[in-house]
Formats: sequence, structure tokens, C-alpha cells
Amino acid sequence: MSEAMIEIASEAAMLAFGRTLGRLLERGDLVALSGDLGAGKTVLARGMLAGLGFDGEVTSPSYALVHPYDAPDVRLPVSHVDLYRLGDPAALVELGLGEARSYGALIVEWPERAGAAFVADALHVRIERDGPSARRLTVAVPRSWEGRWPRR
Ligand SMILES: Nc1ncnc2c1ncn2[C@@H]1O[C@H](COP(=O)(O)OP(=O)(O)OP(=O)(O)O)[C@@H](O)[C@H]1O
Ligand SMILES: [Mg+2]
Repeated sequence: MSEAMIEIASEAAMLAFGRTLGRLLERGDLVALSGDLGAGKTVLARGMLAGLGFDGEVTSPSYALVHPYDAPDVRLPVSHVDLYRLGDPAALVELGLGEARSYGALIVEWPERAGAAFVADALHVRIERDGPSARRLTVAVPRSWEGRWPRR
């Protein structure tokens, strides 16, 4: 596990970084997106889905908690998850994320709602505001990403 810091200057730069991650995504990946309300987690997820080939509108799965995307819309099945409204971590099993991860990837907003162990092997992106449109990303890069992590 290593850590990377990335300065993002604008929403467009956040989308571009998301597209880069989306292109690198593989089966079994868990990408956890942390940050305050309005930090930019859904914007980053939108960029990732674009990088996976999705060209429709990406809305926050706030009420359903899980929004699955499948072929042919994306090159890899991916579930966009928002755990903000997850009441009890025990309710997590009902979301079927383990199965979804076994054949695709997960992008999860508010992962802390699932408990600390949930992010153990995640690519964990923490987003902090650094002005109206600037953001600082602190990324925990797990071993499974070490050969893939975009060098820049
Ligand atoms: N650099 C940036 N990256 C991402 N979003 C930005 C940036 N600059 C400004 N924004 C704005 O910040 C907001 C981010 O909203 P977004 O829905 O992505 O937040 P979120 O972290 O998913 O919040 P929530 O916890 O409610 O799900 C949007 O209104 C977006 O236009
Ligand atoms: Mg969101």
C-alpha cells in the first residue's frame, strides 16, 4: 500500500482523472471515494464511467444505493454505489456487492458507512476542497494497483 497526492484544478480536470482511472479499471477492483457532501465524488465517478465507455447521464444512486452498469454500455460491469443512506452496516449484505465485485468492479461513495474494514484493499480516494473548484486527492494505492497506477 502506497499513497499518492494529486492536485485537481477544476471540475474538467476531475472528470479527466476519472476517465484515466476508468480506463485502468479491472474485474475485482473496489474504488472507494471519500469526502464531504459536494466534494466531487459523483463527478469523479462520472469520469470513471466515461472512461469505461458509458456515454449517458450518471446520476447519484442516493436512493437505490446501487446503480449497476452492464455491457454493452460499459466495457466491464461496474456498480456505482452510494452508502450515505445505509443505516446499519449489517444491511450491506443485502446489496450483493460481493457478487457484483466478483464479475466486475465497484465504485463506492461514502464507504465509511460500511465500516473500516470495507476499504482494506480498495483504491481509496479522499477528496478535500482546496477552493471553489480546486480539490486535493489523497489516494491509498493497494498492491493490486501498483503496476497500473498512472505515473505522471
Ligand atoms: N474540481 C472539481 N471536482 C469536482 N466537482 C467540482 C469541482 N469544482 C467544482 N465542483 C462542483 O462540486 C460539486 C460536486 O458535487 P458531487 O455531487 O460530485 O459531490 P459528492 O462528493 O458526490 O457529494 P455527495 O456526498 O452529496 O454525494 C458539483 O456541483 C461540481 O460542479
Ligand atoms: Mg455523490
